[in-house]
Amino acid sequence: MDKALVPGVGTGAAGTGAEANAAAGAVTGTGGAPLLQVERLSKRFPVAGRRGSWLHAVDDLSFHIRAGESFGLVGESGCGKSTLVRLLARLLDPTEGRIVFEGRDLAELGSAGFARRPERALIQMVFQDPTDSLNPRFTARDTIREPCLLLAGMDRAAADARVDEVAAQVGLPLELLSRFPHQLSGGQKARVGIARALAPRPRLLILDEPTAALDVSVQAVVLQLLDRLRRELGLTTLFVSHDLNVVRLLTDRVAVMYLGRIAEMGDSAQVFAEPSHPYTQALLSAIPGHGPRIRLTGEVSSPIDPPPQVCRFASRCPQVHDRCSREAPQLHPGPRQDAGPRPGSGLAPGPAPTPGPDGVPTQLAACHVARYGVRWPVPVLMAD
Ligand SMILES: Nc1ncnc2c1ncn2[C@@H]1O[C@H](COP(=O)(O)OP(=O)(O)O)[C@@H](O)[C@H]1O
Ligand code: SF4
Ligand SMILES: [Mg+2]
Repeated sequence: MDKALVPGVGTGAAGTGAEANAAAGAVTGTGGAPLLQVERLSKRFPVAGRRGSWLHAVDDLSFHIRAGESFGLVGESGCGKSTLVRLLARLLDPTEGRIVFEGRDLAELGSAGFARRPERALIQMVFQDPTDSLNPRFTARDTIREPCLLLAGMDRAAADARVDEVAAQVGLPLELLSRFPHQLSGGQKARVGIARALAPRPRLLILDEPTAALDVSVQAVVLQLLDRLRRELGLTTLFVSHDLNVVRLLTDRVAVMYLGRIAEMGDSAQVFAEPSHPYTQALLSAIPGHGPRIRLTGEVSSPIDPPPQVCRFASRCPQVHDRCSREAPQLHPGPRQDAGPRPGSGLAPGPAPTPGPDGVPTQLAACHVARYGVRWPVPVLMAD
């Protein structure tokens, strides 16, 4: 599978303290306005039976996605990936924060109000399980036609023509369009789900683990289809997966999530080659051929009422030190490995990393000791 990298993709400059995460979402330099800008976005769920307790599913996230970019989101189960994409697709209301899409703040609109907005057609989602997400009483044609009629405002003839067009794009033979979901294979249902999302001509396509429910043999075919579509149609995609290999192949930039927060974010090629956050290093060590396996010990912290001053990863981090329980790290572009002593050592910090093509650093990590330019494999962590 070819990887088509979009050059010139950068991340926002970050400062220190509470503003740093917000600054990580800002775009400076000459890279142009983002299609989507997320600013200090949070979603907290009340905890049943524990009055006043909150589960922090998404916590103060900031990032941006540029038009034409493929952005990846990785992290282990329960870290908040689906909650985040449901917020972006406005299926959930945020607790705090802004979701600025083509210059408009969608977070201000309730999820019910959003359903009637023209932007509803412009952000489409492909769901994890094609069987669950298809109406058993709709034929494939009904399913793909529905958003054309309801969201894109097409008349019936235009909608039917659009169904034929998009079915051809996803490789769905026209004779299958009259079938119901139970008459289709897993791969065919996945194509229907993708066609339905593409039909109203979205500007942003969100894919939440789009192949996780498919047989292994079908997964590669569907991933190749998605990769071809995004390049041929110039789509902007947010690709969510716990499969690191897939994210590496299909994305230009990546954010690594841990317990509701972004641990590391940057150009995919750079993050995969030189992971700087201890959690990213451990995650990537699970990929065969990525050096010694780093096995994390310690319990995952609870997402319920997490102490704001403690690093979320401290309970499992091989590099934890005193500062990690006194001051939660913010996303920042740290010094390079060859740039001098570690922060907190009392010695002067080294220079910032080399800026990306649009003048801002291309790799950010929320860790007090993250170093950039660390060549894989990283020797300082524990290995079996
Ligand atoms: N509707 C909800 N009510 C309460 N807790 C939820 C709800 N949805 C998700 N969560 C919790 O939020 C956290 C993140 O879940 P989720 O976004 O589904 O993670 P992921 O997609 O990364 O597996 C989990 O602890 C999950 O139990
Ligand atoms: S801030 Fe501390 S605990 Fe958190 S990832 Fe960095 S070294 Fe580990
Ligand atoms: Mg999920």
